[in-house]
Amino acid sequence: MVVKASATPSLSAPHGGKLVQRLLEGQAAAALRAEAPGLPSLTLSARELSDAQLIAQGAFSPLEGFLGSADYKSVVKDMRLASGAVWSVPVTLSIPTEKRSAFRASGRVALKDPQGALVGALDLQEVYEYDKRAEARLVYRTEEEKHAGVANLYAQGDLLLGGKISLLGPLAPPQGYEAFFMSPAQSRQLFQQKGWRTVVGFQTRNPVHRAHEYIQKCAMEIVDGLLLHPLVGDTKGDDIPGSIRMECYQVLLEKYYPASRVTLAIYPAFMRYAGPREAVFHAMARKNYGCTHFIVGRDHAGVGRYYGTYDAQHIFQEFTSQELGIQPLFFDNSFYCTACAGMATEKTCPHDASKRLSLSGTQVRDLLSKGEKLPPEMSRPEVAEVLRKAYTAG
Ligand code: ADX
Repeated sequence: MVVKASATPSLSAPHGGKLVQRLLEGQAAAALRAEAPGLPSLTLSARELSDAQLIAQGAFSPLEGFLGSADYKSVVKDMRLASGAVWSVPVTLSIPTEKRSAFRASGRVALKDPQGALVGALDLQEVYEYDKRAEARLVYRTEEEKHAGVANLYAQGDLLLGGKISLLGPLAPPQGYEAFFMSPAQSRQLFQQKGWRTVVGFQTRNPVHRAHEYIQKCAMEIVDGLLLHPLVGDTKGDDIPGSIRMECYQVLLEKYYPASRVTLAIYPAFMRYAGPREAVFHAMARKNYGCTHFIVGRDHAGVGRYYGTYDAQHIFQEFTSQELGIQPLFFDNSFYCTACAGMATEKTCPHDASKRLSLSGTQVRDLLSKGEKLPPEMSRPEVAEVLRKAYTAG
């Protein structure tokens, strides 16, 4: 008998209880446009803009803005907001010290995108100093600048601005991804229309390989639907661009997944590569999109050798299931076993390493950059073809 995991009565409630909306429309938007020329202004980096947009559409609920010092300290040290709500990665807005005098201690600040266009406002509540090395050590578990996330942190300004934000709405979908843009309010509505009561979220930053497919499909056996949610904000230079990854997903879904059980949408966030801390962060965001379950496999959001294979799973033990409000689904390292003639993990396969083909984004990238063909045990032929074309073209 197949037991369906439908004990949950409905989709997950947003983190903190209510879906945050910080978008200005109509008169409120016109008022900000009129007021903006008289305000001090701040140009956001691409990552800060992406964070602001995620906050404004509720993907980072309960955040209503960039962290103030009490929340910041609590997040870095205890993985919680000052209210006690689970929050594992600081979402901050920085300025260099020399810009300090451009901002009063509090008041409105006009926010501009990297091209200089007005995108919204910050209701500045405080300007504060922070310890980058402590953040690196506690959040990224390393102070090494070689770590991509730590390098970004060290490159930030030395002061942080805290306060609520409001952005001019509606938000424009990231260019090239218009067909796959879905806010948390929209995904929730869609899941309800589909009658899904349980939805598993899948984060990815790599081109889809057979291990991804395997763990998604294992999860799909126990829930009503899958939200395939590739992250398309900035990743490391050697990661494969989001547009190519989306193409891989489309050809895969067309041929190998039941269309009625999958929603493909983008997650327009930047990677931080904070491994375990980022796994919790990813889960909270997907809870806001309505997911009841979230997949955490091997070395989730990891980079290099900074994290243990299952550290991103162990970290969830630090929270009760009630305060998480989304069920993590943990998967062991999955591989193709030639003796089993299929995908498996240590939990299901008795054969030794000589029979196992291990699968990771790094391996896929290595083979592609050497101009080698991805074997069907690693990648579906349709996906391999998209990647081959992209590599030969570029
Ligand atoms: S990540 O940075 O987004 O985590 P990636 O796109 O490679 O990188 O992984 C997406 C999800 O699949 C993560 O939960 C990761 O742990 C999981 N995963 C990737 N490869 C494997 C594998 N071979 N076995 C088990 N889980 C995997």
